[in-house]
Amino acid sequence: MTQDELKQAVARAAIDYIAPKLEADSIVGVGTGSTANYFIQYLAEIKGKFDGTVASSEKSAERLKALGIPVYELNSVDAITVYVDGADETNDKLELIKGGGAALTREKIVAACSDEFVCIADGSKWVDTLGKFPLPVEVIPMARSHVARELVKLGGDPVYREGVVTDNGNIIIDVYNLHIDNATELETQVNQIVGVVTNGLFALSPADVLLIGFEDGVKTVRAKG
Ligand code: 5RP
Repeated sequence: MTQDELKQAVARAAIDYIAPKLEADSIVGVGTGSTANYFIQYLAEIKGKFDGTVASSEKSAERLKALGIPVYELNSVDAITVYVDGADETNDKLELIKGGGAALTREKIVAACSDEFVCIADGSKWVDTLGKFPLPVEVIPMARSHVARELVKLGGDPVYREGVVTDNGNIIIDVYNLHIDNATELETQVNQIVGVVTNGLFALSPADVLLIGFEDGVKTVRAKG
């Protein structure tokens, strides 16, 4: 199976996983990226079974609307039944690195507002130790150099993601060469740097469920301890 076919398989599995949880007034949180795009495509097939969605990016919102799926502002909904999104890396605690698509801040916000976070990923995203994928950090533009210097002190090699402006009008710094043994500690340390909006570690609040696609099928993983 190709990586794309694995992404399709987990997106389809996510529909099967969430469908029984949805009611006529349910809101579905929708993530960003190529795996989330397949989820959006399949979500259109059950669009009559829930009220609407909250999207974690303008791109996903556009895709949802184009398929006739209602999209609400986060501030206008009371609750989100489930949030479905991809990841760049996951470990067995379901701690994630996210933000390859620069949507990490809105993704973290929508995840935080959801009753359940279902992560969907192809098997290439499974790692023993987080950090091979550079950690994305959303930064207020004027703080770029300061934040980069502080990230070096934390042991990383920060690289400005040229030409990218987030949906919030900020920039992204990708931090290379991190070997993340304690993801909750690093998530906290990076967020404490003045000028950081948030970082792409989802460890303080990891995913609740991971649907991960391998050659021999989609596995359902729940966080350990
Ligand atoms: C976007 C994200 C994505 O979930 C992550 O980059 C995975 O993307 P893909 O599904 O294309 O592999 O965090 O900000």
